[in-house]
Amino acid sequence: MPIGSYSTNYPFQTPNPYPMKYKKLWLGFIVVIVGSFSVLGYYGSEIYRQAPPIPNKVISTSGQVVFTAQDIMDGQNVWQSTGGQELGSVWGHGAYVAPDWSAEWLHKEAMFFLDTWAQQAKGTTFDALDVETKAMLQARLQKQIRNNTYDPATGTLSISDLRAQAIADVSQHYTGLFMQDPALAKYRDAYAMKDFTVEDPERMRKLNAFFFWTSWACVTERPGQDISYTNNWPSEELVGNRPSGDLLIWTGFSVIILIAGIGLLAYYYASHKEDELDPSQLPKEDPLLGLKATPSMRATLKYFWIVTALIVVQITLGVVTAHYGVEGQALYGFPLADMLPYSVTRTWHVQLGIFWIATSWLATGLYIAPAVSGYEPKFQKLGVNFLFICLLIIVAGSLAGQWYGVMQKLGYGENFWFGHQGYEYVDMGRFWQIFLLVGLFLWLFLMVRAIWPAFKREVEGRHLLGMFLISSAAIALFWAAGLMWGQHTNLAIAEYWRWWVVHLWVEGFFEVFATVVIAFLFVRMGLLQTHVATATVLFSTIIFLFGGIIGTFHHLYFSGTPTSIMALGASFSALEVVPLVLIGFEAYHNLTISRLTKWIRAYKWPIYCFIAVAFWNLVGAGIFGFLINPPIALYYMQGLNTTPVHAHTALFGVYGVLGIGLMLFVLKGLSTRRRWKDGVIRFAFWSINIGLALMVLISVLPIGLMQTWASVKYGLWYARSMEFMQTDTMEVLRWLRLIGDTIFAIGAGALAWFVIGLKTGHSLEDDIDVTSDFNVPEESQTKEIPVEV
Ligand code: HEM
Ligand SMILES: [Fe+2]
Repeated sequence: MPIGSYSTNYPFQTPNPYPMKYKKLWLGFIVVIVGSFSVLGYYGSEIYRQAPPIPNKVISTSGQVVFTAQDIMDGQNVWQSTGGQELGSVWGHGAYVAPDWSAEWLHKEAMFFLDTWAQQAKGTTFDALDVETKAMLQARLQKQIRNNTYDPATGTLSISDLRAQAIADVSQHYTGLFMQDPALAKYRDAYAMKDFTVEDPERMRKLNAFFFWTSWACVTERPGQDISYTNNWPSEELVGNRPSGDLLIWTGFSVIILIAGIGLLAYYYASHKEDELDPSQLPKEDPLLGLKATPSMRATLKYFWIVTALIVVQITLGVVTAHYGVEGQALYGFPLADMLPYSVTRTWHVQLGIFWIATSWLATGLYIAPAVSGYEPKFQKLGVNFLFICLLIIVAGSLAGQWYGVMQKLGYGENFWFGHQGYEYVDMGRFWQIFLLVGLFLWLFLMVRAIWPAFKREVEGRHLLGMFLISSAAIALFWAAGLMWGQHTNLAIAEYWRWWVVHLWVEGFFEVFATVVIAFLFVRMGLLQTHVATATVLFSTIIFLFGGIIGTFHHLYFSGTPTSIMALGASFSALEVVPLVLIGFEAYHNLTISRLTKWIRAYKWPIYCFIAVAFWNLVGAGIFGFLINPPIALYYMQGLNTTPVHAHTALFGVYGVLGIGLMLFVLKGLSTRRRWKDGVIRFAFWSINIGLALMVLISVLPIGLMQTWASVKYGLWYARSMEFMQTDTMEVLRWLRLIGDTIFAIGAGALAWFVIGLKTGHSLEDDIDVTSDFNVPEESQTKEIPVEV
């Protein structure tokens, strides 16, 4: 649900709730959770049942064993060790500079067949043939390549000798590319691949086995059906991969369901009349001013130093990664790729983003828990410090492991446990995953023990606290879904569980956590009544999870899943957009609040961040999310630059800016009562937001839309190819990114400078906060909050 939807005159508040109302809402919450997870689980078991099989043997007509199951599974591990989804993509999931290997392999294999036949028939290439002959050969190819020749009884996949030759030909190309064929240097440059991305020829052979298998699943028809294992993805006319009928039907349905949802919610808003905010009822001075920070609350401060440092490092890595898009192996001539190749910088960029956002939230939770209960449990400070050390070890250890993995220094098993798993957003080795899980539960434990007294004491506030604890627990719990795959799990199944982590976090419990945490802050600041906050938080949680949980399937339309996944994913994820469309109410409300009384102005920048969060929720999650969401859209756009348009504006725009807002809020509480200087933080706020908008609008989005055109016209392989991506127009568009990126990075630098200035003093005015509209007694004005930043 929209972040901050607890706000007082947010439209679906209930002016006069009574306990019965809460009961109904909790019941609704339980029904949605149980119902949705049953569906997610049941259809998940269908994914297990219907995943594209890994053949024991791939055998040619003349009896040659081309690949074994072990080759394919080891090949998957090799792919993971090179960075996996952080270098090019498979089934459309991953990075965008190098090709989609499954789509490109398929195209190359198809062309081998067609050129061979063209040569035999007319002594020329396929492209030089007349239209009729082309159509005839394509039909012949489709008949052969789409036909499912896998025998479940023996586990063998039979292929023609010609196909075995095609595989050998494509394998040779990839071996040259991934190792060091000088003739392919220009491709490595265009794809930001270092020389010897794979060092060992045997590993390379296995990598080819895996790529073959992923492309085989893209074109082979499911038993008894006329669509491929990947629902005919990627679009490729040569092999007859075109949108299925279901794809069109569920696209239409998802748009209708979105409109219906918006209509219903708008009616609900209109029928629940808003309360006008009555400024005379607002507290006359900041209720949090009397708050005395406990030792454990003060101990959270260092978390924010790390957050600030990681923001700077993460953005620097982003700039380097983006630069590899224009200068594949170097940074302004310096051969950086030898030491720090693209797949490492991209991994670190993605992972540090999640780390600093999470760190800011965890710290905020640890800060407000004792503040809410007014109780400091024994050894709480020790716990906060211990968790801090653990987090540092996890960050440093997992990043180092990824570097070792990509530099090809680890065996298959070592890489799985300590290196690079190659699954975007869950890239860290299994050991680090488990360590982080333990850390998250430690965090949960620290939160619960600090909040518990308040939970017992506050009859009315209990509901909000309960939801806060549930969302905190869910954040920890869903990370555990990442342990559900093993080293050799079928990619279709690993993807299912990966999206349990990523999607259920960002489109599920992060939203709930964010909603509750801001509700808390507003309630504690006296800007929102508890009962209003509770009802709206519960209601919005229900609405959000109703679409969000089953909506997980929108990531799995084409990753080797049955058609039902697409139908469910398209319909339910469309509902996720409904509350985002109406989020303007909340933004406007928060803007009004920020101007109401003098003391609130001290919180101007945290509140502005919350407003920006609402803005990016509409634009980044709602609009750019729905841009790629209907099946027909994603069919052509998956794996194009339209995805980073959405990912940056949603992940950074919503949760990154929320992380910054929460950090500023806590720093406000922990700093001295001297007023903050406005200049630097104002500059930082606007640069970050404007920079983000420009990065997307003048560069990444136009690139993505041009790619979409290419994908529709010629197929996905072409939209990602060097030929298309290295045209002059594309080059200019990529360089244009520098404008937005630079403004954004300067803004982040300014933010860091501001935060440092809270310690050194250069961000503070000489005078005390004007905390009240009335005269504040002398002694309370000079009383310093007992915490030094
Ligand atoms: C604040 C909420 C959201 C966040 C933080 C978020 C974030 C992300 C991220 C990080 C990705 C992965 C990008 C990649 O693979 O590189 C993604 C993919 C995707 N998101 Fe969201 N998202 C949000 C909301 C939504 C909504 C509301 C929708 C639409 C209903 C949506 C639709 C999609 C789709 C369809 C993809 C898959 C794109 C692909 O595989 O190419 N997202 N999102
Ligand atoms: Fe999603």
